[in-house]
Amino acid sequence: MRAGGDQRISETPQWQALAEHHGQIRDRHLRDLFAEDPERGTDLVVTAGDLRLDYSKNRLTRETVRLLAALADAAGLRERTEAMFRGEHVNTTEDRAVLHVALRDPATSGLVVDGRDVNAEVHEVLDRMASFADRVRGGHWTGHTGERIRAVVNIGIGGSDLGPAMAYQALRDYSDRSITFRFVSNIDPTDLAEATRDLDPASTLFIVASKTFTTQETLTNAREARRWLLEGLGGDEAAVAKHFAAVSTNAEKVADFGIDTENMFGFWDWVGGRYSFTAAIGLSLMVAIGPERYREMLDGFHTVDEHFRTAPWEENLPALLGLISVWYIDFFGTRTQAVLPYAQYLARFPAYLQQLCMESNGKSVRLDGSPVDVATGEIVWGEPGTNGQHAFYQLLHQGTVLVPADFLAFVRPNDLAHDRDLDGMHDLFLSNFLAQPRALAFGRTAEEVAADGTAPDVVPHKVMPGNHPSNAIVAPELTPSTLGQLVAAYEHRVFTQGVVWGINSFDQWGVELGKVMANELAPKLQSEGAPDYDSDSSTNALVRLLREGRGRPA
Ligand code: F6P
Repeated sequence: MRAGGDQRISETPQWQALAEHHGQIRDRHLRDLFAEDPERGTDLVVTAGDLRLDYSKNRLTRETVRLLAALADAAGLRERTEAMFRGEHVNTTEDRAVLHVALRDPATSGLVVDGRDVNAEVHEVLDRMASFADRVRGGHWTGHTGERIRAVVNIGIGGSDLGPAMAYQALRDYSDRSITFRFVSNIDPTDLAEATRDLDPASTLFIVASKTFTTQETLTNAREARRWLLEGLGGDEAAVAKHFAAVSTNAEKVADFGIDTENMFGFWDWVGGRYSFTAAIGLSLMVAIGPERYREMLDGFHTVDEHFRTAPWEENLPALLGLISVWYIDFFGTRTQAVLPYAQYLARFPAYLQQLCMESNGKSVRLDGSPVDVATGEIVWGEPGTNGQHAFYQLLHQGTVLVPADFLAFVRPNDLAHDRDLDGMHDLFLSNFLAQPRALAFGRTAEEVAADGTAPDVVPHKVMPGNHPSNAIVAPELTPSTLGQLVAAYEHRVFTQGVVWGINSFDQWGVELGKVMANELAPKLQSEGAPDYDSDSSTNALVRLLREGRGRPA
């Protein structure tokens, strides 16, 4: 039976079977699950491309996985996946197709959606991006005074920042070190000021990235960047064309802003902001790592897209990530998900995933508008290991909340470290990656603690309860391809969750009200004379405080 139409997932026999099964698993300890099933550590493993997921340290059995796969079928995950890949308007509230998978499809023609050849358009833009990136990297794209570009500043926010910023950092070892890359997102003026303070306008290129080209933060930063540029170059407006490129779906607004649409790279409304860094939003990244490496990254994405589309659920890495998270969120009642990359280069990966996961699945109504009756999206957070170990792992080990964690690691260090003969250091790094999930899962009993000669009154403080679940995702090395594979795995994890919960993972109406209110409140801060205090009493008092603090009539 499928949970399509009006049927709630919680009313399916598959959900109820899981609820019952949870009663049997809830109090089982990972120590016992491993003792009973010695092959667990090698059997509860799946691969997709170069990624290996070991999900054995989760509070589940082979039966749980079977029941979760049945739940995926009941939710119609296969049909929904096909509908997405076919270009159906699965984003119902915005009446749009959802086709980020087409952005990394090597096919150069064939997929026709809403009367357009999607593959052909994607490849046309990719080719234009490649030629632009080559010109900048090769020093052939010169600024207003004829100097080559030495700094690229990406101005964008949310999906127009987090993807390229995260990926640039992740792939820094592959980047052109003769060019400085900066990412400005916040409307806090210090962000732009810091990013440009040591740059020379004559050799700086701004890439203004905004799907809508209406976002307050991005347009304000771009306007101020233009002012900085023109001040630095003597005020000749003609300089803008040499120092500004745009990435957007909105050619009209780009032209209104004053950027030559010759320097604009387009994409389409069927690419959601948080799914857009393999669209032209990745332009700054392509300049950094070059078109060839960029294409390797797209191929990595595509490998996992195809895996997700075709592999049975029990061998499907992204689907398993999604289904296991549903198991925790809806049956164990967890509310957060830690993502712990043992890779310094992945420092921004948790922040990137916050938008991907929380903007997608932070929803409380179903596709038909009725309220959900199951818990949905989790709070995603994390920091690179080992830094996190010295900060918040204490709570993971001995606190009172259950936090499922994804541990990520790479077998080999990047060339930068390898060439410096730092492989031994990488071993120490990896020993932490091995130790933490092991300590979380198996802990240390009171008897074991006491056997060390610990004073009886201290024993309870040193007991490590264990039974804290985790996944381990390992790839051979952090490359453009493995990064693409990893991101695609999480994208489809989010999709899997959304389908099970019956929600729309592709809209984000919840962010709109705050934007409207900010626009209403800005004049109250900016007005010459005292404003009307017609908001709530708390906001009124804060407006007064901010005005007084800046010497304005309050
Ligand atoms: O406010 C949320 C959001 O709409 C995101 O979904 C999006 O990634 C971000 O703003 C930036 O939007 P844009 O690319 O249109 O500037």
